[in-house]
Amino acid sequence: MLDWSEPSASPRQTPPPVVVQFVTQAEQTGLGMIDRRGGRVSVDDKRMINCRADVNQLLPLKYKWAWEKYLAGCNNHWMPTEVSMQADIALWKSRDGLTEDERRAIKRNLGFFAASESLVANNIVLAIYRHLTNPECRQYLLRQSFEEAVHTHTFQYIVESLGLDEGELFNMYREVPSITDKAAWALKHTQHLDNPDFRTGTPQADQAFLRDLVAFYVIFEGMWFYTGFAQILSLGRRNKMVGIAEQYQYILRDESIHLNFGIDVINQIKIENPHLWTKAFQDEVRAMVREAAELEAAYGRDTMPRGFLGLNAALCESYMHFIANRRCAQLGLQRVFDETENPFPWMSEAMDLKKEKNFFETRVIEYQNGGALSWE
Ligand SMILES: [Fe+2]
Ligand SMILES: [Fe+2]
Repeated sequence: MLDWSEPSASPRQTPPPVVVQFVTQAEQTGLGMIDRRGGRVSVDDKRMINCRADVNQLLPLKYKWAWEKYLAGCNNHWMPTEVSMQADIALWKSRDGLTEDERRAIKRNLGFFAASESLVANNIVLAIYRHLTNPECRQYLLRQSFEEAVHTHTFQYIVESLGLDEGELFNMYREVPSITDKAAWALKHTQHLDNPDFRTGTPQADQAFLRDLVAFYVIFEGMWFYTGFAQILSLGRRNKMVGIAEQYQYILRDESIHLNFGIDVINQIKIENPHLWTKAFQDEVRAMVREAAELEAAYGRDTMPRGFLGLNAALCESYMHFIANRRCAQLGLQRVFDETENPFPWMSEAMDLKKEKNFFETRVIEYQNGGALSWE
């Protein structure tokens, strides 16, 4: 059974001496002239960032945790169109099956995810991939990129099935302030990397890269997505929008691995580059987590101004505090909020698809999977 719940148990290596080195663009991308006289890659040559070893040689593997996550992702394969939407369509079209508050929360939730999946995918492909100079991590990024495409497909399928206004949904990240604020906050951390002249290799640039990893893996995917999952799965527990809830379970299982890959990447970069993880930088990361939790609380108040059965903005806020503290622990940082109980303990069960299958009474495809993943 795979368990990604514990903070980065996998990367454990003795820190090498600090060597700040500049690699050429060709070494970084792996697309330069072939070095016909170059030696074979040895495991010890491999590094997460600023690596001179040939990035086109997957083997020998150094970071087995990255390879294991690639395999786990492949074992979790699913497609949104395999989930029946009949019950959701009937409920959405019924006059009194859903309250106006529930409809508002569902639409904004879908609107948040619809564009966010693309933002995350673009960040992986256009920013992270280029600077993570390790082939086994890149192998996982290629798998993750496909999964983000499947997630975006899910929102296309939902829009089509329910007959939603596609322009309204896919523009919410531009038009609904509480959603725009989150997207804009994350984007400002990737814009440095978008500059064609950006190169890692200095402490300042390497910290900018770490900031991007924190913003997208730890915060976007690891914090904001989780309240989104809680909203829809809470409805699913009440037998509402069960098709979407089932799709969200699959997305949650994928995202749990994305998050834990990101945590492992950050922790491994810390081990190899301890000079980057200064007290000031740690404080900065904690401030990012705190600020992100506040943005999420504002989003919760906007999407659930009155709340509904089992869910309201206050519960979502305390859930966000619980998650924020947990993410800090996974990065080896002190918590940012007072210790908080998890207000949604049932979320951990949502990862166990076999158990939920009976509950939702919907068709669940029996994918080979890595077992029950702990969602935290
Ligand atoms: Fe995703
Ligand atoms: Fe993701």
